[in-house]
Amino acid sequence: MKIFEKCREFTKVDEYKQRGLYPYFVPIAENNGTRVKMNGREVLMIGSNNYLGLTKDPRVQEAAIKAVEKYGTSCSGSRFLNGTYEMHEELEARLARFVNKEAALVFGTGYQTNAGAISTLLENNSIIITDKTNHSSIFDGVFLGAALNPRVVIKRYRHNDMEDLERVFQALNPDLPKLIVTDGVFSMEGDVVKLPRMIELCQQYGCGLYLDDAHGLGVVGKTGRGTMEHYDKFNQVDVVMSTFSKTFSSLGGFVAGKKEVVNYIKHFSRQLIFSAAIPPANTASVLKVLEIMETEPQHVARLQEIGSTMRREFQALGFDTGESETPIIPILVRDFDKTFAFWSALFEAGIYTNAVVPPGVPADRSLLRTSYMAIHTDDDLQHVLSTFKKIGKGMGII
Ligand SMILES: Cc1ncc(COP(=O)(O)O)c(C=O)c1O
Repeated sequence: MKIFEKCREFTKVDEYKQRGLYPYFVPIAENNGTRVKMNGREVLMIGSNNYLGLTKDPRVQEAAIKAVEKYGTSCSGSRFLNGTYEMHEELEARLARFVNKEAALVFGTGYQTNAGAISTLLENNSIIITDKTNHSSIFDGVFLGAALNPRVVIKRYRHNDMEDLERVFQALNPDLPKLIVTDGVFSMEGDVVKLPRMIELCQQYGCGLYLDDAHGLGVVGKTGRGTMEHYDKFNQVDVVMSTFSKTFSSLGGFVAGKKEVVNYIKHFSRQLIFSAAIPPANTASVLKVLEIMETEPQHVARLQEIGSTMRREFQALGFDTGESETPIIPILVRDFDKTFAFWSALFEAGIYTNAVVPPGVPADRSLLRTSYMAIHTDDDLQHVLSTFKKIGKGMGII
């Protein structure tokens, strides 16, 4: 049938597999934190978003197990009807306090949070302004909002370029409602949004500010409270969201802001109302991670120390780490096939990274995304650096 022709013609994956250069969907048989079992052997993981290394922390695991024992495996419905548990509300109150906002709302995933919160905040004749490299879930929230309200205007500005953003603002009708949405820490290259200038522009042009801090919480800011803490700008960000699938060692997401904004999203977001609540085990894990973050600052400190060391050492070896300021450190290769070849050689040598190529990044920015966990040891890091050096030299990357 005609509708399936594109599927038959999609043969690229098989071609890359035959050449031994396919870096995606590699199954993990065992997860032991920094070590995972893939293709029957142990591999050092530097491609995970488990930033604080807490997914296998016995306290987090025990909290999840106890929640299953007490409440079962599923909430069996939407938050709106039968699926709100007291622990969801406890988590929302704790999260709101953690990010210094009046209220928070928990969703099934981070993707749903962005899709739901952004699309719900848009209305006809409103303007949504987005960094060109924002996460896809942000764009899907924008596109959904525009599909539901056909007179929404979408404006993009060059990546983290505040001059370009100012040019965008200057050309807009000052009377229309506006929202800017940005990643706090950009997910692929680990650079941080230029928040202070963005805030000035938002105030000058009467624009609401929505921050996606999926890679910021637990990663930047002295106590891991993210991009707002990094710049000491908690009060100037109107809405902040994050996911539970990274630092928080779980699955789910939340949005936080003023009570009235959160209440509006709660009663109008289709992604919240028409999808099941996050299960008890996931909720309990996040509560436990929050407690650990609030009482054990050493994990965030160690992660940040690892980030600084690895950026400095990679640069000293001659690798291009872009604009990274965080423990998400891209190794820019720039060439599509060479990125896959580098990934494959590292994997053969027992190191797992993430190969990121267009459309995930612009055409000239193919890269290996490396990201670190607070539980990586100094020996792990030395091993990573010496292996990258050997293979990078052999391939002419450094
Ligand atoms: C910046 C950003 N926002 C949102 C999400 C979505 O989060 P989740 O994995 O919980 O759906 C991600 C995850 O990849 C992300 O990197």
